Amino acid sequence: MELRHRTRRNRQSPYLRDLVRESHLRTEDFILPVFLMAGNQKEEIPSMPGVYRHGLEILPEFLKKAKDLGIRAIAPFPAIDESLKDSRGSESTNPDGLYLRALREIKSRFPELVIFSDVALDPYSSDGHDGIVSSDGRILNDETLEILGTMAVAQARAGADFVAPSDMMDGRVGYIRAALDGEGFKDTGILSYCAKYASAFYGPFRDALQSAPKSGDKKTYQMDPANIREALREYSLDLEEGADMVMVKPGLPYLDVVRALAEVSDLPVAVYNVSGEYAMLKAASNAGWLDYPSVVMETLLGMKRAGADIILSYHAMEVASWLAEAK
Ligand code: PBG
Repeated sequence: MELRHRTRRNRQSPYLRDLVRESHLRTEDFILPVFLMAGNQKEEIPSMPGVYRHGLEILPEFLKKAKDLGIRAIAPFPAIDESLKDSRGSESTNPDGLYLRALREIKSRFPELVIFSDVALDPYSSDGHDGIVSSDGRILNDETLEILGTMAVAQARAGADFVAPSDMMDGRVGYIRAALDGEGFKDTGILSYCAKYASAFYGPFRDALQSAPKSGDKKTYQMDPANIREALREYSLDLEEGADMVMVKPGLPYLDVVRALAEVSDLPVAVYNVSGEYAMLKAASNAGWLDYPSVVMETLLGMKRAGADIILSYHAMEVASWLAEAK
């Protein structure tokens, strides 16, 4: 056959394929989400096999392991005792509470780890919502902003390098920026959950923190999965309000949104490979139906190919160890 174009020429050997590869996964691309709890035990999350809530007293052991594998950034989330939750999420700004103690401890033991702290009410809210719930069931935007601002400042003071508002209240990036600047935290960055969708893929995360909404859903603040133009609007507002990085969440069903933001964004674009995405691959692999390392690497590489600069993923430790082995 006379074929001028044979695309297989470039695929003939491993070295050649390495040479023409367009996207790459590096351990430095990842932010590792970490679940915290009080005490000196760890508890596996039933819907996320291999992922644990770490007692604060044994957390340093785990972080040391992560750091030795090359992990450079973490996103801690606290599992708060139900008895400490109230409608205003007051525990979120308690300087002696689990989360702020944890941030101080992590920063003092691992000063070079980049900490992305979580700003939202849900881990501390007796209603399981990211904002204050009114008596008639509405989520109160502006009243919530005041708490988010105080929370962000408390986290910056405790050692967070970046605060990451995951709440989706309107105007929070600008409000938090002003609150941080007002207290002198001019170098504390903001990673905005910019396009965060009302997704059913958050189920295992809500198991991990016991933070599911007690009533209603999150559809008046998180985005409709049908929309992408609206993601660009959220991006423009976050940029204008002073975000330093933006995020799309979840990842896998929203790679078109990652691509759309990557094409226009002046800011680094992160993607959150969320709990339900982790659970899918883990469960199918544990059942013997998928080859775990292969599907994980393929999935995460797809996120890089879509244009993500940064990936939050529960697979990060495993990926780091596979990448280290492959060297
Ligand atoms: C809430 C929050 C959620 C996640 C991160 N922050 C869940 C939600 O919005 O209900 C989900 C992350 C995951 O599923 O891995 N502020």
